[in-house]
This record gives sequence, structure tokens and C-alpha cells, in this order.
Amino acid sequence: MKTLDNATKIRLINISDFKQKQTIKEKIEFLLNFAILAPSTHNSQPWSFIIKDNTLKIVYDNSINIKIADPDNRYKVMSLGCCFVNVIIAAAYYNFLESYSYNEQNDKIELVIVFGKVTNIPAFYSNELFFQILKRKNSRGVFKSEKFNRFQLNNIKSVNIFKNIKIDIIDDNKKINSIASLTKKVLKELYSEKEFRLEWAKWIKTPFSKNMKGISSLELKPSVVLSPIIPIVMRYFNVSKKASNLVGTMIKSSAIAIVLSSNDLNKLSFIEGGMLAELLMLKIQSMGFQTSIAVAALSNPESKAKLMNELGINEEPIFIFFAGKMEESKYLSTRVEYNHILN
Ligand SMILES: Cc1cc2nc3c(=O)[nH]c(=O)nc-3n(C[C@H](O)[C@H](O)[C@H](O)COP(=O)(O)O)c2cc1C
Repeated sequence: MKTLDNATKIRLINISDFKQKQTIKEKIEFLLNFAILAPSTHNSQPWSFIIKDNTLKIVYDNSINIKIADPDNRYKVMSLGCCFVNVIIAAAYYNFLESYSYNEQNDKIELVIVFGKVTNIPAFYSNELFFQILKRKNSRGVFKSEKFNRFQLNNIKSVNIFKNIKIDIIDDNKKINSIASLTKKVLKELYSEKEFRLEWAKWIKTPFSKNMKGISSLELKPSVVLSPIIPIVMRYFNVSKKASNLVGTMIKSSAIAIVLSSNDLNKLSFIEGGMLAELLMLKIQSMGFQTSIAVAALSNPESKAKLMNELGINEEPIFIFFAGKMEESKYLSTRVEYNHILN
């Protein structure tokens, strides 16, 4: 029998297997299959899980530090927020969600889910979101010309669950083009810095890599012949033009840009930003569209200020992604399976 590759195996969860799980611990562990499918910066999967009685804590994996692309760890916190929401949705689907909470203490983030008797079905919950967890992916490529209609846009906007986070949906071509130009400019600057390329290269996997974290070089659209040497090329050569053009083209072709922003930023807003981002991406994918994250335009104060000015946003943007219809790529990201990271 052919053994399944990791990317396929982790998404082949038989959802009815939950019924056969006898103990609370087994049930919680089953839900971790959904947790690990969350998106994360550079596919770094910065989560660690602690199960005690009927409680799951999701905390940082302290070994993950992406100093240049994520100097203040905000994307790490957002990635935890994405992971958290996946567990909440899955627990609600199985009528197993008692409560959830999140807090920050001494610079430590703790996301807590209590399981058991259902007392809390979150207002944002729906079965369709649950089914999308297994299918969601961050698409990379060029969007087709298909647009969203008013009804769909309103449906996306209705997801907002946090009073502290604002959702802006940009569907104006001129504005989308200016986000593309700004992102390209920032990426060109970043890629021309050797330090940035060295850090990024560490997260790019060749087709022979056994590491389940990081992004496959094949996803970054080089020729199949070139892909094994992409990490080396990235390390030693300035690939700024090619890399920024790829992202610029994706943004320009998108039907909408979604910007999350806040005028009261703290660590908790990054958790909420991550939760909201994952909810929005699942929702949009349930409508048959694809999503693609590109946050580079937010990576320095100057470009952030320009973005706010061009889009007419007064709050500070914390996350940005793009959506539209895109040909499904065959590459799926890999994950470290939960039983290897349980604390
Ligand atoms: C907070 C955050 C920031 C991200 N930033 C980017 C980005 O700037 N550019 C990009 O191509 N992907 C970005 N991603 C997407 C990740 O690369 C992607 O989620 C990861 O490789 C796993 O792939 P998957 O989402 O298809 O499962 C980001 C994801 C998160 C959660």
C-alpha cells in the first residue's frame, strides 16, 4: 500500500471518528487535528498544546522566533488566534464546547478552551465553517476576473465579532493597484537585505526536505527543475524583482482586499485579529472563493501610513489578505502532527 504523504494524510480526517473517542483526553486530542491545520507565518506552526482534565491550553512554542519578518511577535500571536478558532469551531460542531477565553500575563499568551457540557455556541459558529477547516489553504497565484456580488460582500462583513477590530473590504481597482505597488516596493526593499533572505530561506523546503514546518519551494512557483535550489538561490542572490512581482501580480488580480485594523492595539487585539482573519478566510472559502495573505505592506511605519492614507483608513492595520477565484494549486502545506507536539 502506498503511504500517504503528510500533506494529504493530515487533511484526511474522518469526522465521524469523534464518536468513537471514549475519554475526554482522546476527544480533545482528536480536535487537535483541526487545530494544526490553521495558517501560520512561514508555516512556522508556533503552537504548543497542554491538556489537563477537560481543558486545553494553546501557548507559544518558544523555540520559534522569526525576528526579521515578525520582530514583535504579532504574527506569531495571530497564528495562535487562527489555531484557537479552529478548535472552537470543531468543539462547537461536536457539541463539546463549554467555554473559551484568552488572556495575557507577563507577556505570555494563554488561549484556553474548556470542554464538556455545551454552554457556549459562539455566535459566529456554523457547520459550513467547520467543513472548510480541512479544505482551507493559502492560495498563491493569479486570480481570475470573477467578482463578489453585494450579497456576498455583506455576508463577509457580517462576520465581525470584535468591537475592537474593524474590517475594511476594498473592491476598488485603483485602491487594490496601490496596495499592489506598495507591497511590491516594500518586498523589493526587504528582499534586497541579506538578513531577510537568510531568515526566509530557512523556512523554504526543497522537495526532499523532511521538515514538516516551512513552505515548499514548489509553492513559490519556480520551475520544478529549479525548486531544489531555491533556498540556496534565496540565500545568495537578490531575488527581489522576481519575488515582489509574483506577489504584486497576485494582489493586482484579486477581486477584494480585506484589511483588519484597530485603534486600540494590544496583545489581545492580535489574538482577536488572528481569530477574525481565520473566520473570514473560512467564510470566504465556503463561498467558493480562494484567499491569499500578503502582509508585507504593513511591515514598516512608512508604508503602513501610506496604505492608511491611500485606503482612507484611520485605524492601524494589522492584517491584510486578498480574495477572488483562483485555479486550485495542487500543493498543500505540511504539518507536524499534534502527537509530536503535545506537552
Ligand atoms: C499571521 C500570518 C501572516 C502571514 N503572512 C503571509 C505573507 O505575508 N505572505 C504569504 O505569502 N503568506 C503569508 N501567510 C500564509 C502562510 O504562509 C501559510 O498560512 C502557511 O504557509 C501554511 O499554508 P496554508 O495556509 O496553505 O495551510 C501568513 C499567515 C499568517 C497566519
